[in-house]
Formats: sequence, C-alpha cells, structure tokens
Amino acid sequence: MGWYESEVLPRVIDVALSGKAFARIRGRVASGLEGEVLEVGFGAGPNVPHYPPAVTRVRAVDPALTGRKLAAKRIAASPIPVEFIGLDGQVLPLEDESVDHVLSTWTLCTIPDAERALGEVRRVLRPGGALHFVEHGRVPDPKVARWQDRLTPVQRRLFGGCHLNRPIDELVAAAGLDVEQVDTYFMKGPKVAGYMFEGVATKP
Ligand SMILES: C[S@@+](CC[C@H](N)C(=O)[O-])C[C@H]1O[C@@H](n2cnc3c(N)ncnc32)[C@H](O)[C@@H]1O
Repeated sequence: MGWYESEVLPRVIDVALSGKAFARIRGRVASGLEGEVLEVGFGAGPNVPHYPPAVTRVRAVDPALTGRKLAAKRIAASPIPVEFIGLDGQVLPLEDESVDHVLSTWTLCTIPDAERALGEVRRVLRPGGALHFVEHGRVPDPKVARWQDRLTPVQRRLFGGCHLNRPIDELVAAAGLDVEQVDTYFMKGPKVAGYMFEGVATKP
C-alpha cells in the first residue's frame, strides 16, 4: 500500500462518507445489531456512534492502519469496546459461528475478492445471525451499468480498489445468506456511484 492509499485515502473517505444523509443510513443499518459484532472495513470508525447499546463488543477488520488512528476519538467516546483483529476481510481470524452479527458499510466494493469475503462472513456468523449492509453497486439500467463497467478501472485506481459495478444483492445471496430485506435507491450525486443496496441477510 503506497502513501496515498495508506495516509490520504482513509481521510478522504472519512470526509466523503460523512454528513447527515450518510449518518441516517448508518443509523438504520446498525439498528438491530446486538452481542458480538464483526465490522468488516471498519475504516475510521464512522459507525461507532451508531452501534446500539445491545452490542457487547465489536471486532474490527481493515487494512488501513491510518483509519484506526482516525477512529481513536470515536472509540474512546463509545461505551462499546472495539478490538482490531485483522487486516483482511477475505481471511478472518475467527472461529466458525463465533459472531452474532456482521456490519459492512461501503466496503464490499473495495475488498478485492468480495465472494471470498462473503464466504468468510457466512462462516463466522452463528446460525440466525445476520449481515447488516449498505453498499453501492450495479445499477439495473443497462446504459448506466455499461458506464459503470467503463469507469471501474479508473475508480479502482483512484479509490483504493473500489468497484462501481458489483451486483451486491446477487453476491450476498450467492454466499448462501438469506436476503431478508434489501432496499435499493439512489443517493444524490452521479448515478454511476450512487446506487445503494441497504439490507439484512441472515445465515440459515
Ligand atoms: C469506502 S471505505 C468505507 C469505510 C467505512 N466502512 C465507512 O462506512 O465509511 C472501504 C473500506 O474497506 C477497507 N478495505 C479494503 N480492503 C479490505 C479488505 N481486504 N478487508 C477489509 N476491509 C478492506 C478500506 O481500507 C476502507 O476502510
């Protein structure tokens, strides 16, 4: 990881994914989390203020160590302990069926092998536990989707490997999780990066 990706990008992302609209979404996605939670792509900890009181501990995974530094104040202000357990959502250092819930916000776009990461999520979730997610991804309109395919190589270079064109709902279902609920909508801004998948998927 170079200087731009390790030092600059975590700060840019922390600012870009802040504000009222993002906070509202984070609050919705975190609602219903309880017990032992794994957060994949913890970043600078923008979800920390949204963890419900029923969460007993969060285990955080992210390769960007600068994010941990940026998260320090949020973690200190929260009664919920956060433990950094690893750098890569594709290889989780956790026992099978060891967490109650998993949280992922705008991260499945960036993990190199999202299928593998979702396989790990399924493995570590207890039966009945759920993945709570919000992710941007592939637009159903083929014209926009074609632009997403064209622009993804540039996006990946500029934003730490971020793909514009991943079909998030299909990937979650293909991992063997039951998609209980998924809302799709556009946020303000360019359509190629603004189509959201917000939902909950349970391990059978
Ligand atoms: C767009 S940022 C989102 C950060 C945060 N989840 C949020 O909601 O603002 C994507 C995050 O995925 C992390 N990431 C990249 N590769 C990863 C991997 N292999 N495993 C886990 N996280 C990864 C990045 O470091 C970054 O923090």
